Amino acid sequence: MDRIRIVGGNALNGIIPISGAKNAALPLMIASLLTSDTLTLENVPHLADVELLLRILGNHGVDVSVNGRREHQDGSYARTIHFTCRTVADTTAPYELVSKMRASFWVIGPLLAREGQARVSLPGGCAIGTRPVDLFIEGLAALGAEMEIDGGYINAKAPKGGLIGARYTFPKVSVGATHVMLMAASLARGTTVIGNAAREPEVVDLANCLIAMGARISGAGTSTITIEGVPSLSGARHRVLPDRIETGTYAMAVAMTGGDVTLSGTDIGLLDTAVEAIRRAGAEVSAVEGGIRVIGHGDQIRPVDIVTEPFPGFPTDLQAQFMGLMTRANGVSHVTETIFENRFMHVQELARLGAKITLSGQTARIEGVTRLRGAPVMATDLRASVSLVIGGLAAEGETMVSRVYHLDRGFERLEEKLTRCGAIIERISG
Ligand code: EPZ
Repeated sequence: MDRIRIVGGNALNGIIPISGAKNAALPLMIASLLTSDTLTLENVPHLADVELLLRILGNHGVDVSVNGRREHQDGSYARTIHFTCRTVADTTAPYELVSKMRASFWVIGPLLAREGQARVSLPGGCAIGTRPVDLFIEGLAALGAEMEIDGGYINAKAPKGGLIGARYTFPKVSVGATHVMLMAASLARGTTVIGNAAREPEVVDLANCLIAMGARISGAGTSTITIEGVPSLSGARHRVLPDRIETGTYAMAVAMTGGDVTLSGTDIGLLDTAVEAIRRAGAEVSAVEGGIRVIGHGDQIRPVDIVTEPFPGFPTDLQAQFMGLMTRANGVSHVTETIFENRFMHVQELARLGAKITLSGQTARIEGVTRLRGAPVMATDLRASVSLVIGGLAAEGETMVSRVYHLDRGFERLEEKLTRCGAIIERISG
């Protein structure tokens, strides 16, 4: 199994190109199941999760053609992928595939809308929490689908003539369930109004792509989305929006190590709350042409309390990284996780680097220390593992991160991007 070796202590200086967002690319790719025409996506990141979803979509009959990756001057890659699903080959998403990546469960929306039926394995638990699917079941049932759980699978069946538009308000904000409702309602008969919808930029990106495919959607980005169903959708060309979590992660790394880095190909407006927190911690963050500039002052990190919330609140996907930053603050800070009940697995590992963190329920109390020391640590989930990389970059001596396949799910060419900015970081294979 690959490991990542880091020798900490270097400031980061240079340019880091930001990739297309994983969490936008996945639902956009799934949207290709809604049409028999070709959906072309630009700026698709090269990540383990994307590659896995390509396989899953292939199983449902999607033909995929990938345009070669072209490297630009700033080190960024452009990857364009064409998806064509002339006919749906299989409306079953099996356990072996769905259990590997929760987002693949979302195929239930387009399969049900286009084919009138879907049999999709329950995704099961996952390291960061139980993550049930009740909201998907309720939402699709509101559109008239018969939803039945049988042998670990959800059998979904649309009424004769297809799904029927309806008014449905989520009892809790869910990004995935909002994506699925958007896709399903786009092909339903009549109008659907989704209340308490997720407002994440990735939801807006999916809505924009669906609109380009001919869907009639208004209100994406607010908590009420209205969808007037259409009989069919066409192909389209769409560019995946920049990864705000990758952006925030590198911004926090610079805030921690010190240095001066431009994050190119991204947009400060995607992460206002996180930028605000990083500024309060003492780093300078500004919008520059085509990206964001971050100037960190390493040793003068101020303590900042954060609480994770659905967008536009502080993202849960940046919680671990921010906690990493706070381990070196000049004082005590608190990090409260409200989205997932078990998203603190990085606490034990950060402690191995010398961090002082105590947990009480959903809140971590972090007492900043003057220095961290490198140590062997283990990646436990995607965002937790990158917080260990950030910790390692700021620690004295060598940090060895094992189980880095978690990182490969969501960070494209991490070692290369950081090495170009002066970090000592390498992958050790085997
Ligand atoms: C998306 O997951 C992201 N994944 C997650 O990123 C992210 O952490 C999460 O949204 C919250 O922002 C992708 O976009 C691929 P939710 P999702 O449904 O859609 C509960 C990463 O590291 N819930 O918004 O699965 C759920 O348990 C990943 O890139 C129900 O109770 O998250 C959670 O507590 C990790 N019933 C809350 O809602 C349901 O039916 C929010 O989850 C569905 C969800």
